[in-house]
Amino acid sequence: MKREIVQTSDGSTTIYLPEWEENYHSKHGAIQEAKHVFIKNGFSQFKVEELSILEIGFGTGLNAFITFLEAKINAVKIHYTGVEAYPVEFNEIEQMNYVVELQATDFEQEFEKMHTCEWNSNVKISETFYLNKRKQFFNEINDAEAFDLIYFDAFGYRVQPELWSTEIFQKMYNALKLGGVLVTYAARGVVKRSMIEVGFSVEKLAGPPGKREMFRASK
Ligand SMILES: C[S@@+](CC[C@H](N)C(=O)[O-])C[C@H]1O[C@@H](n2cnc3c(N)ncnc32)[C@H](O)[C@@H]1O
Repeated sequence: MKREIVQTSDGSTTIYLPEWEENYHSKHGAIQEAKHVFIKNGFSQFKVEELSILEIGFGTGLNAFITFLEAKINAVKIHYTGVEAYPVEFNEIEQMNYVVELQATDFEQEFEKMHTCEWNSNVKISETFYLNKRKQFFNEINDAEAFDLIYFDAFGYRVQPELWSTEIFQKMYNALKLGGVLVTYAARGVVKRSMIEVGFSVEKLAGPPGKREMFRASK
């Protein structure tokens, strides 16, 4: 599928799929969305020294990189698993402006390493960040009680409704430890119903700039 690099309203880049008229991040601000949905309402809720995170849709690595930066500030050791079936090319990554926009030029090497490192292998990106990029389809995920936190960042229900089904959320539920949490930018009733059906408790929270609401689901 054709991919274009475009800029969002906060100045940060994202990828746009013209055939689906779908972005990898919110057009209102990729970095703003990532910080609000996944960091503030996910990562920052855990006051721990070590955390296992599963990301549904590794994509451009933006969520992984912001988590790396936050983990450094908070001295948290992260085991990060990013599932992705259609990896972004490195020449596309070179056109993204996350390192500059996040004022993280000191960590450019780490961002690059996240993209150039081997797939399906646990790689040490830094003392506090271990990354396992899994080249896999979401419906092949069969982890059991392995993660504290899931960043559910699939494309929207409009274009991939099958990824917001009870079948997928059952897999997410199974993959979480008891007390684990899933965060997502989505806020559709049909998504909430699927989450509740597999056993999650669901909260509706204020969304990032430009979006009214989002969900946090707890096991
Ligand atoms: C919204 S984007 C993820 C954005 C990403 N979190 C980031 O920060 O750039 C959704 C991702 O899911 C991937 N994807 C779509 N369908 C998939 C599937 N069935 N299995 C695995 N990955 C899939 C896409 O290639 C894309 O990278």
